[in-house]
Amino acid sequence: QPSAPLARAESLILEIPDYPSPGILFRDITPLLADGDALRATVDALLAPFAGTFDVVAGLEARGFLLASAAAYASGTGLMPIRKSGKLPRPAAAMAYALEYGTAEIEAHADFPAGTRVLVIDDVLATGGTLAAARELLTGLGYAIAGTAVLFEIDGLGGREALGDPALHTVFSS
Ligand code: PRP
Repeated sequence: QPSAPLARAESLILEIPDYPSPGILFRDITPLLADGDALRATVDALLAPFAGTFDVVAGLEARGFLLASAAAYASGTGLMPIRKSGKLPRPAAAMAYALEYGTAEIEAHADFPAGTRVLVIDDVLATGGTLAAARELLTGLGYAIAGTAVLFEIDGLGGREALGDPALHTVFSS
């Protein structure tokens, strides 16, 4: 049974048909972000299984940043931005991947020692391409994946299977 703020958080995720392209049902989390109690409950729920198991939170550009920085603050750790290619001045590694719509490449700096335990956070899991690439990117840099936490899992697109992460934690799904 979710807490009242968490239940309200779920109700604040909007479904936007045909955005950003026809056939895509976009999950718009901005109304959830706009509600202080819902946002706090959501960030707490993202972190719940992982207390004490990670050294840094990694967030995926762009919407993953919104949750990851709050999660890093809440857990007293640092933040690692994983960005679309060309946005970071000192990329140490890059990983290409296919999206639900289009293709992309992500990059990260290598500002943490090898073996650093990273909790990876994003807003939505669809095909799993983004998070799978993030995990590959991070392990390639010598980091340890403490877990993957996602606000919203879209069922039926094979994301969970593509990711193959037994420690995948999702707060909401449909
Ligand atoms: C969206 C979403 C996830 C990813 C999920 O990001 O925020 O990161 O797609 O899709 P997948 O599981 O099929 O990989 P997008 O690449 O649109 O970037 P944005 O947050 O910068 O809009």
